[in-house]
Amino acid sequence: KVELGLKDFLHINDFDKETIFKILDRAKEVKALIKSGERTYLPFKGKTMAMIFAKPSMRTRVSFETGFHLLGGHALYLGPDDIQMGKREETRDACLAIMTSLWHEFLLIRYADELLHRGIQLLNAHDILDLANYATVPVINGLTDFNHPCQIMADALTIIEHIGQLEGTKVVYVGDGNNIVHSWLLLASIIPFHFVCACPRGFEPDARTTKKAMKAGVSKIEIVNDVKEAVKGADVVYSDVWASMGQKEEAEYRRTAFQGFQVDEKLMKIAGPKAYFMHCLPAERGVEVTDGVIEASNSIVFPQAENRMHAQNAIMLHALGL
Ligand code: CP
Ligand code: NVA
Repeated sequence: KVELGLKDFLHINDFDKETIFKILDRAKEVKALIKSGERTYLPFKGKTMAMIFAKPSMRTRVSFETGFHLLGGHALYLGPDDIQMGKREETRDACLAIMTSLWHEFLLIRYADELLHRGIQLLNAHDILDLANYATVPVINGLTDFNHPCQIMADALTIIEHIGQLEGTKVVYVGDGNNIVHSWLLLASIIPFHFVCACPRGFEPDARTTKKAMKAGVSKIEIVNDVKEAVKGADVVYSDVWASMGQKEEAEYRRTAFQGFQVDEKLMKIAGPKAYFMHCLPAERGVEVTDGVIEASNSIVFPQAENRMHAQNAIMLHALGL
């Protein structure tokens, strides 16, 4: 793969700082082109992308499918019921069969941890690494229980567009120490900014990932439980659901455990006048965030959602060496 100039994108720190900024610059360029109505830039012409989903999705599917199409390619959606990877057949057989029956271009995967088959955990964050090994085409991670690198690339692009830069900003994530936080931590291990995760005790992000990011010594990283103190002076207050996909049966219990962690108008006021509000979406309005905060003029959640497509177009171009 590497010899052919092809690259996987499995974790945000698969690329170094210089490459991340190169991809973000490319995202801005291609975004401007698409927004201008220009439709003659077709680098993916004749290419097919297999999008393998084991979890539900709206933004990831729509943005990848639309972006690949706008740049000339054909994206094939393979949902959980269509392909049943690891269930109907082994992951590696499905992967090799897809690659040989398509024109060998590209795989996007949105994996899950909770699908069990014959007592073996077949579809999990580790399998994406296995799959990347079997695949002779680039593999892009569309979300796992561990991380969500494409989302964080779109978030970085959105911050740069609204604040002018990511470096030196204070990003305060409020809520569960989940896959989104892990990608923020990995980004903070290569690009210098101030990242704070304010979560209830017991809902901290993975300790090893946190330690590794702190050890990198690139960014100021804090994992705290005092949300009001945490948001002071923030450039961005970021929120996500309290119960991720695969944890929905814990939703009630989590609502109690996360009391005080709702991003509401009062918390945004404590954050201060320069704070933007971001959320990867889907949001549970009235739970982790109020309607008023999502609808406020400093909320950039919809430009952020739009940027999924533009960031991913640039990631795909880079992955294919184009
Ligand atoms: N943010 C995000 O990945 O949304 P979907 O789950 O709808 O794809
Ligand atoms: N943490 C959320 C992100 C969804 C985009 C989840 O995994 O469900």
